[in-house]
Amino acid sequence: MFFLLYLIQYIFLINCQNIPDARHEQASALVGNRFYFFGGLTSQSSTSNEVWYLDLSRSFNIVTPPWRKDKEMPIAYMLGSSCVSTINNSIVYLVGGRMFIPNTTNLTYTSSTYVFNSNISQWTIPNITGFNSSFTRRDQMQAIINNNEKIFILGGIDFISVIRYNDINIFDTTTMSWLTLPQSSRSLQCSDYAAILLPNSLIIYIGGRLPNGSHINMNQIQIFDTKFFTWSTNTTSGSNVRSRAGHSAVLTQNGDIILYGGATMNSTGSLISVLSDIAVLNTDTWKWFIPDISGSNVPPPLAFHSAALYLNYMILAFGQTAISQTHTNNIYILNIHNYTWIATVDIPTTTTTTAETPTDETSDNQQNNNNILYIGIGIGVGGIVLTGILLTAGLLIYKNHDDESTESSEIDRISLYG
Ligand SMILES: *[C@@H]1O[C@H](CO)[C@@H](O)[C@H](O)[C@H]1NC(C)=O
Ligand SMILES: *[C@@H]1O[C@H](CO)[C@@H](O)[C@H](O)[C@H]1NC(C)=O
Ligand SMILES: *[C@@H]1O[C@H](CO)[C@@H](O)[C@H](O)[C@H]1NC(C)=O
Ligand SMILES: *[C@@H]1O[C@H](CO)[C@@H](O)[C@H](O)[C@H]1NC(C)=O
Ligand SMILES: *[C@@H]1O[C@H](CO)[C@@H](O)[C@H](O)[C@H]1NC(C)=O
Ligand SMILES: *[C@@H]1O[C@H](CO)[C@@H](O)[C@H](O)[C@H]1NC(C)=O
Ligand SMILES: *[C@@H]1O[C@H](CO)[C@@H](O)[C@H](O)[C@H]1NC(C)=O
Ligand SMILES: *[C@@H]1O[C@H](CO)[C@@H](O)[C@H](O)[C@H]1NC(C)=O
Ligand SMILES: *[C@@H]1O[C@H](CO)[C@@H](O)[C@H](O)[C@H]1NC(C)=O
Ligand SMILES: *[C@@H]1O[C@H](CO)[C@@H](O)[C@H](O)[C@H]1NC(C)=O
Repeated sequence: MFFLLYLIQYIFLINCQNIPDARHEQASALVGNRFYFFGGLTSQSSTSNEVWYLDLSRSFNIVTPPWRKDKEMPIAYMLGSSCVSTINNSIVYLVGGRMFIPNTTNLTYTSSTYVFNSNISQWTIPNITGFNSSFTRRDQMQAIINNNEKIFILGGIDFISVIRYNDINIFDTTTMSWLTLPQSSRSLQCSDYAAILLPNSLIIYIGGRLPNGSHINMNQIQIFDTKFFTWSTNTTSGSNVRSRAGHSAVLTQNGDIILYGGATMNSTGSLISVLSDIAVLNTDTWKWFIPDISGSNVPPPLAFHSAALYLNYMILAFGQTAISQTHTNNIYILNIHNYTWIATVDIPTTTTTTAETPTDETSDNQQNNNNILYIGIGIGVGGIVLTGILLTAGLLIYKNHDDESTESSEIDRISLYG
């Protein structure tokens, strides 16, 4: 019986575990205990409309990340940006980006903003007054939402005419209205930067590229005040950090911003190198420092990847690994308490009893999908060993039912719990 259970588990893990293709230039957002990924470039010519998330509700190892698939986007998507509503924290806004008819290389345009309700896996297009039509083909920027539910988007590039914009756009999601503020300084005309909202409602912009292709000085940090709509610059000190674009940044509880990777490019935008370093900016002292890193599960160079901070873990996912268009579907985890690259993520469970029963799985997922079909098969084996071991295996097959197309009935996921 024991052997059989292992055999079944083995077969299902090998054959049925859903794993996303390698990609980069996807958008991402941490929604509660789910790290979501939207679209991305999966090969030279193929842009994805898939939506995946990492289920961070339980401990896991990076060898078998807890991948889950969600409802696909209406369009294939790359180089856009996403942020999570601070009021309805199941709502994700996707702003800008390059959009294609799924499974083709044909550009398409329906809307520059999409709203994803992760509770019910639903995509909608908002009606926005005052929308700036230059956003119909803008990408390589980052959207930041503040506590008043206003989304701020600096610059970006017109991907057809290659115009680099020198403005900041403000999308107020409470009134569904849009405002464009032109900027005077050319050093704000940037793309592929990293943006972080500090608790004092300042957005800080780190790195990126200027219209003439040169990189932004990492010691000149542009700061935008989301209350007064004013700009300022802060000059940093400390370690020298190489200029870059397409890097990731996360903000820790104590105000440190941790950067990973990114790329350097020549003036025509071709990649010269992909970086694999960590740099940390302390936003109290405005000093850069390079921490001592340990651990053996070290990521490769990554650019146009995703990063999120969950508990004391910085999670990196996907990304371009070299200047040729090679990319990964691996994830990498940094313990930010001691800057160690680790393989196992320990997530404390709130419940002390039988955490792995199918009933629990149902309650974890019911807020997301009201149309999931569960079939659970439980096999119980009584203990022979002194202490008495109870093995419970639940074979869980559930089907993600497509809202619109009723004929689609493929089984998305099969998992086995033992
Ligand atoms: C967010 O929640 C408020 C209050 O429940 C609701 O009125 C509003 O429509 C929600 N917004 C979205 C985008 O769902
Ligand atoms: C795109 O291709 C995938 C895999 O070939 C297929 O599962 C999916 O249904 C296609 N999507 C559309 C919108 O045609
Ligand atoms: C994509 O574009 C090509 C060439 O313009 C066209 O022949 C094809 O019908 C288009 N495909 C779709 C799905 O629109
Ligand atoms: C999502 O689900 C949670 C918990 O059930 C609920 O509190 C919240 O209002 C829902 N949000 C939306 C936008 O439906
Ligand atoms: C957007 O506005 C138009 C015109 O007012 C209306 O017909 C349409 O239903 C609205 N769409 C949404 C999603 O609210
Ligand atoms: C839209 O953005 C462009 C580029 O910043 C700007 O020139 C134009 O004035 C904006 N349009 C409106 C209606 O604000
Ligand atoms: C690119 O533009 C910036 C800002 O205008 C300027 O400081 C820098 O010298 C320029 N670099 C080159 C290589 O022209
Ligand atoms: C800029 O840096 C200085 C320290 O060099 C700091 O006192 C100041 O608060 C910083 N400005 C902002 C807007 O955070
Ligand atoms: C940038 O790199 C590409 C590819 O290596 C090359 O074709 C192009 O000439 C380079 N541009 C400049 C200005 O060096
Ligand atoms: C880092 O911290 C984790 C737990 O917080 C510990 O297991 C690990 O051994 C530490 N690594 C180093 C190199 O100190």
